[in-house]
Amino acid sequence: PTGLLADTLARPLHDLRISVTDRCNFRCSYCMPSEVFNKDYAFLPQTSLLSFEEITRLTKIFVAHGVEKIRLTGGEPLLRKHLEVLIEMLAKIQTPSGQPLDITLTTNASLLAKKAQALKNAGLQRVTVSLDGLNDAVFRRMNDVDFPVADVLRGIEVAHKVGLAPIKVNMVVKRGTNDAEILPMARHFRNSGVVLRFIEYMDVGATNGWRMDEVLPSAQVIARLQTEFPLQAIDANYLGETAERWRYEDGAGEVGVISSVTNAFCGDCNRARLSTEGKLFLCLFASQGHDLRALLRSGNYSDEQISAAVAHIWQRRDDRYSELRAALPPDIGMSDSHAKRVEMSYIGG
Ligand code: GTP
Ligand code: 5AD
Ligand code: SF4
Ligand code: SF4
Repeated sequence: PTGLLADTLARPLHDLRISVTDRCNFRCSYCMPSEVFNKDYAFLPQTSLLSFEEITRLTKIFVAHGVEKIRLTGGEPLLRKHLEVLIEMLAKIQTPSGQPLDITLTTNASLLAKKAQALKNAGLQRVTVSLDGLNDAVFRRMNDVDFPVADVLRGIEVAHKVGLAPIKVNMVVKRGTNDAEILPMARHFRNSGVVLRFIEYMDVGATNGWRMDEVLPSAQVIARLQTEFPLQAIDANYLGETAERWRYEDGAGEVGVISSVTNAFCGDCNRARLSTEGKLFLCLFASQGHDLRALLRSGNYSDEQISAAVAHIWQRRDDRYSELRAALPPDIGMSDSHAKRVEMSYIGG
């Protein structure tokens, strides 16, 4: 049976998002601004990272508590050496009812063309690609490392060919930076089977200089799409889905919007996050995590004891940052209590 664990708001534990590296070869301004993540930035040393064996051991414990979906993130997960070996280990884990796990990965696709086949062979089911525009100049400016859009599109094509499906594409929209890319992106991915999702620029982390006036509310994204393509709202695929789904009335597929700023979805947030160094975070906006690595490495704790610790932590969870944030006037924020919240590249998107 799944969903045995519930937090203080009756939310089950269903997704585990595992960050496998805090490094990335891009410097997207909303995530790893280059002024902060420069050559002096102290990334985690190799010995701090959870090993594949440690990740697998923890994953089994989470699955016994009801987790059915694993998302590998980072940083850029494909920078972690031999990631396909980890995927092979995770793919062998079954849910208590004997089902395989839903294993997916969020990537900037810079290495996807090269690695897609090996990932598929290892048991990865699908991928989500981050892509913030089709215009090459706009995209190079957003990734801030002069990476060409053609290489990302090639990665998506290869992933599609090897059957890593359904592919999703996430576009973070920053008003005044890439909002002119909304319609071109929609035109490009209609009829392709790829599900494009527009994400509101969030006040995550403490370094991206977030301002409300750079957020383009999802309602406006939908309004812009409607000027060219009639859309119809459709039901969520599952409880706790981050995206609101819309289908093209002409049958060209669907798009989604993820509105964590203007329409917070904490109410059924069933996601736990495991940081690169093995801390368990209960919210994207948390400033502290629970050190599971310390339990693993002390050598004194059995699986049963670690499992009890995870249950204890989840059952006390009361996080709902985005909802609380939305109750405040824009631009005031919650900077006092959340001033030291962790970076998304560390905790895992
Ligand atoms: P699928 O529906 O399985 O494709 O996954 P997903 O929508 O949960 O995952 P994805 O990683 O694609 O999430 C897309 C984006 O939504 C992330 O990159 C974040 O920007 C945002 N997001 C995901 N989870 C949360 C969350 O728990 N809280 C908030 N505020 N934003 C989230
Ligand atoms: N706002 C919204 N999404 C973000 N991501 C990273 N930083 C932000 C932010 N400030 C998400 C994007 C990207 C993924 C890796 O992390 O969805 O695709
Ligand atoms: Fe790297 Fe993704 Fe963050 Fe961009 S959003 S810097 S690609 S981890
Ligand atoms: Fe979940 Fe925190 Fe995001 Fe709300 S803000 S949806 S509680 S991760």
